[in-house]
Amino acid sequence: MQERQHDRHLDHLIDLLVEHATVIVSGTKIAAELRVPHSTLGEWMERLREWGVEVRGFPGSGYQLVKVPDVLTPRAIRRRLPAGPGTGTFGSRVYHFYSTDSTMNEAARLAVADAPEGTLVVAEEQTAGRGRFGRRWVSERASGLYFTLILRPSLAPAAAPVLTLMAGLAVAEAIQEVTTLATDLRWPNDVMIGEKKCAGILVEMTAEPARISHVLVGIGINVNQQRMPADLGGEATSLFLAAGRSFSRLEILVLVLKRLEHYYNRLQEAGPQAIVARFEDVSSYARGKRVRITEGSSMMEGVTDGLTAEGLLLVRRDDGQVERILSGRVRSA
Ligand code: BTN
Repeated sequence: MQERQHDRHLDHLIDLLVEHATVIVSGTKIAAELRVPHSTLGEWMERLREWGVEVRGFPGSGYQLVKVPDVLTPRAIRRRLPAGPGTGTFGSRVYHFYSTDSTMNEAARLAVADAPEGTLVVAEEQTAGRGRFGRRWVSERASGLYFTLILRPSLAPAAAPVLTLMAGLAVAEAIQEVTTLATDLRWPNDVMIGEKKCAGILVEMTAEPARISHVLVGIGINVNQQRMPADLGGEATSLFLAAGRSFSRLEILVLVLKRLEHYYNRLQEAGPQAIVARFEDVSSYARGKRVRITEGSSMMEGVTDGLTAEGLLLVRRDDGQVERILSGRVRSA
C-alpha cells in the first residue's frame, strides 16, 4: 500500500510538471498539490530523476521539466486514447507501477477482484517478468514496455489461442507504424525484426468448462534498450538497436491498445477466421518455412503449412504427415 501511494505521488508530480511544462512551477504549489511537506520536494525530484525524468530546480522559485518525459502515467495514457463507440475500453482503467514483480501478477489480483474488461496494468520495471515456459523476461527500468490487459471475452476456452495471434498482430502493426521497421510474426507469440525477437506475448487464461472467465494478455516490447543481455544468445533485439534511434514508449503503447481493441472487436463479431487469415498473410513463418519445434525434451522438424481455423500451426514432416502444433518453441531450421 505504501509503495502504491508513492507511485501515485510520482505520477501526480509528473502530470503536474507536464501540464505546466513551459513555466517554472512553484515549490509551494507542488507541495500543496501533492500534500507533502515542502522540505521533501528535493527528495521527490531525485526520485523522478531515478526514473529518467529530467527536471531542473530553480532555487527560491521552483521546478521545470527539461523535456516531456516518456513515463506511462495513467493520465498521459488516457489523454491519448479516443472515447467513443467501439473504442476507448482498452486502457479506460490504468494501474501504473514504477516497479513490480510482474504485471501478470498484479493483473491476476485485479481480475479476481472484478476489474472490468480493458483494465491495463503497466510497469516501468519488472523484477520477475516472465515469458512462456516459465522463462524470464528481462524488464530493464524505463526502457521497454511491460504491460498486461485484462479481457473477458465471450469465447469458448478452445478459442483462446487466437488471442495470442491477435495480440501479435496488434503489436507488429503498432511497431511498424511508429518505427517504419518491417516486422514479422513467429507463431505463436513472437514479434520479430528480421531474425531477432523484439516483443513477446504471454496469454494466461482462467476458465470454467464452457466459458472463459478472464484472460490476461501480457505484452513485453524491447523499445529503447541499448544492449540486450548476452545470455539471450543474440536472439533478441530492441527497436533502438534495429533503427538506431529511440522511440516514445507512450506512443507505441497507445497504438497497441487501439489496434488490439480493433482486432478484439472483429474477433468477437466475426470469429477467429479474420485474425487467423491476417496472421497467415503477414507471418513469414505461417507457410512454406522449414522449422524446428521443441517442447520439453521432444523435437520435430518440418515445413509450415498454414494455420487451422482455431489458429494452431500445421507442420508437414518430411514423411508427408501433417502435425497440428498446439504449443512449442518454433525456430527456423
Ligand atoms: C514470451 O515471449 O515468452 C512472452 C513474454 C511476455 C512478457 C510480458 S512483459 C509484461 C507481462 N508481464 C510479464 O511478467 N510477462 C509479460
